Amino acid sequence: MEEELIQIKNAALSLILEAADKKSLEEIKLQFLGRSGKLTLSIKDIVKLPIENRPEVGRLANEVKKAIEETIANQELRIRQLTDQELGERIEKVDTSAPGIKPNTGHLHPMTQVLMDVIDVFKTLGFQVADGPEIETDYYNFEALNIPKYHPARDTQQTLFLDTRKSKIAPGEVILRTQTSAMQGRIMKKINPPVRVIVPGKNFRYEQVDASHGFEFWQVEGFMVDTNVRLTDLFGTIDYVLRKLMGEGIKIKFATTNFPFVEPGVDTYIECSVCKGQGCSFCKQSGWSEIMPAGMIHPNVLKAVGYDSQKVSGFAFAIGLSRLVTLRYQMDDLRLLTNPDLRILTQF
Ligand code: DAH
Repeated sequence: MEEELIQIKNAALSLILEAADKKSLEEIKLQFLGRSGKLTLSIKDIVKLPIENRPEVGRLANEVKKAIEETIANQELRIRQLTDQELGERIEKVDTSAPGIKPNTGHLHPMTQVLMDVIDVFKTLGFQVADGPEIETDYYNFEALNIPKYHPARDTQQTLFLDTRKSKIAPGEVILRTQTSAMQGRIMKKINPPVRVIVPGKNFRYEQVDASHGFEFWQVEGFMVDTNVRLTDLFGTIDYVLRKLMGEGIKIKFATTNFPFVEPGVDTYIECSVCKGQGCSFCKQSGWSEIMPAGMIHPNVLKAVGYDSQKVSGFAFAIGLSRLVTLRYQMDDLRLLTNPDLRILTQF
């Protein structure tokens, strides 16, 4: 029995001294001192010994138990110090003067970047920035803009109507706005001249989607009303703004056109930056891109908002924002702007 106890002690101590972590120490503890551990079982056997031998063996058993417990405690301490030391070494290895790793952050979408530039330029010219509803009434989208019911100009607007059958609203009265020009009436009814406002916003039309058309597209509508505003003010403003946005050297041309809410109407073209004027599919082989329709506000529009068209005059324009972005970055397809592919977006 004594021999067995000595053997248990030796086996336990050598295992404990080899243990490299807390977990193996726990296992050894269980193996010897647990409820069915080797030492525990031996101690239980002491009662089987002749009575006179029991005190002697009992004392030895206690000594063995104590030795195992103490060695475990010491080894535990050693392991903890070791890991602390390792940690210390690792901390010393950190070179705090080394350049950091740049975290992967996102950035503003090219549309937002260009829109912010547009807003900056107009602010320097004294324009305020306004916002308005995408769900619009027929009145502001058409009537107030000198486009009465059954006017043929409505055909060009591919209007998306809201289903109002379950409400008291007459059919066709509520639509998705087709043009941010709808904000002209809303704003001018609220404030008196002098007015200088731009309205960036999304518009919707039932369009076939292709490289240069989308069913939703961004415009920045703008208008100015004051005494003595003339066509030359409009030309000067457009020229100044486009050169600031697209570069001083760009080629700009104006042509007459027709919109019911302006008289005269003006189409603004810039040389197509995708093909540098050579002609490509983006500019329909013309070498020019239509970028900014405009004109002098029609007296009927001024009258509709309660202005005196004899005393004040004004101009209005719309920048095709999506097109401005594609032209600035020489993208040959508008659809790239709504593509979430990071390989595209990280290029800006
Ligand atoms: N709202 C017109 C459209 O989207 C564009 C437009 C033309 C706006 C002439 C204007 C303007 O302010 O003067 O078709």
